Amino acid sequence: MGTSLLEGFLRKQTSSRPLSLRLAGCTRSQPSIDRVRQRLGDQADRVELGYGDASGEMAEKSEIVILGCPKEDLTAALKTTKPGPRFADKTIVSLMAGLSADQLQKELTSSGAPQNTAIVIVIPSFAARTGGSVSLLASPSTVSQERIDIVTQLFEQVGSVLHVDEGLLMKGVAIGAACHALAVTAVDLIADAGVCEGVPRPLAGAFAAQFLRSAAGAMVDGMSPEQLKAALSTPKGITLNAVVDLDKAGARGAVIGAARGAVRYAESM
Ligand SMILES: NC(=O)c1ccc[n+]([C@@H]2O[C@H](COP(=O)([O-])OP(=O)(O)OC[C@H]3O[C@@H](n4cnc5c(N)ncnc54)[C@H](OP(=O)(O)O)[C@@H]3O)[C@@H](O)[C@H]2O)c1
Repeated sequence: MGTSLLEGFLRKQTSSRPLSLRLAGCTRSQPSIDRVRQRLGDQADRVELGYGDASGEMAEKSEIVILGCPKEDLTAALKTTKPGPRFADKTIVSLMAGLSADQLQKELTSSGAPQNTAIVIVIPSFAARTGGSVSLLASPSTVSQERIDIVTQLFEQVGSVLHVDEGLLMKGVAIGAACHALAVTAVDLIADAGVCEGVPRPLAGAFAAQFLRSAAGAMVDGMSPEQLKAALSTPKGITLNAVVDLDKAGARGAVIGAARGAVRYAESM
C-alpha cells in the first residue's frame, strides 16, 4: 500500500487542492527498496528512499509520518523509527487496519513518544495509485481540526476521503472489501457470459467494468438504487429481466451473506 500511495502522490495532481509534497519512503530491506524504485520508474528520483535505520532520520525531517507496515511488524518498525519527544510536533498517520488509535498510542508511548501523540487512522484503498482511492479517516477527539484537515488534504491527492467514527471504521473497511469482491466477481462472470454469447473477451471485460462504473457513479451522485431501477425499467425491458434472473439464482442472499460475513471477519481482526 505504501508504494501505491507514493505512485498516487507522484501522479499528475488532479485534486482541487493540490499540495507540494516532499516525499520519503522506508522499508525493512534493500530488495524491497529496489522493487519500489522499479515500480516508481522515472519518478523514483522524486522520492527519498531508504530501509531499516533510515526511517528514524526520515521521520525526524517529516511533518507527517505514515506507518504502513503490517500491525504485527509495528514493534520492530518503531525500533528503527525511534519515536521520541519530537513526535509531539508531528501527525502520525496509521494505515494499519485493525489497530486502534489507543493501541497505537500505547506502542508509541512504550517507544518513547509523548502520551498525546496526534494519531489519525486512514485506510486507503488499492486504487490510490491511480487517484481512485476511497480513504476512510478516523481520529480521536483530541486531534486538532487543523491536523485532520491537512491529512484529509493529503489523502485527497489520491482520491476521495470519508470521515467516520473509529467505532465504524472496520465495518467501513469490510463493506469496501465486499464491494471490491462483488465488482471483481461481477466483471469476471459477466465477461465470461459475454464471451459465451459471442463478444470478444477484451470487449466483454471492458463493457462490464464501464457499465458497473456508470451505475455506481449515478448512485454516488445521489440516485438511490430504487430510482436507478425505475429509470432502467421499461416494459419487457432487458434490465428488469436480468434483475429477476439474479433474484431467482439467489444473488441477493449471496451478496448479503458475503457482506455481513466480511463485517464480522473484519471486526474479529
Ligand atoms: N494492501 C492494502 O490494500 C491495504 C489497504 C489499506 C491498509 N493496508 C494496511 O497497510 C499495512 C501494510 O499492508 P500491505 O498490504 O502494504 O503490506 P506489504 O505489501 O507487506 O508491505 C508492508 C511494508 O512494510 C514494511 N515493513 C515491515 N516491517 C518493517 C520494519 N520493521 N521496518 C520498516 N518497514 C517494515 C515492508 O518492508 P519489507 O518488504 O522490506 O519487509 C513493506 O514495505 C497493513 O497494516 C494493512 O492493514 C493495506
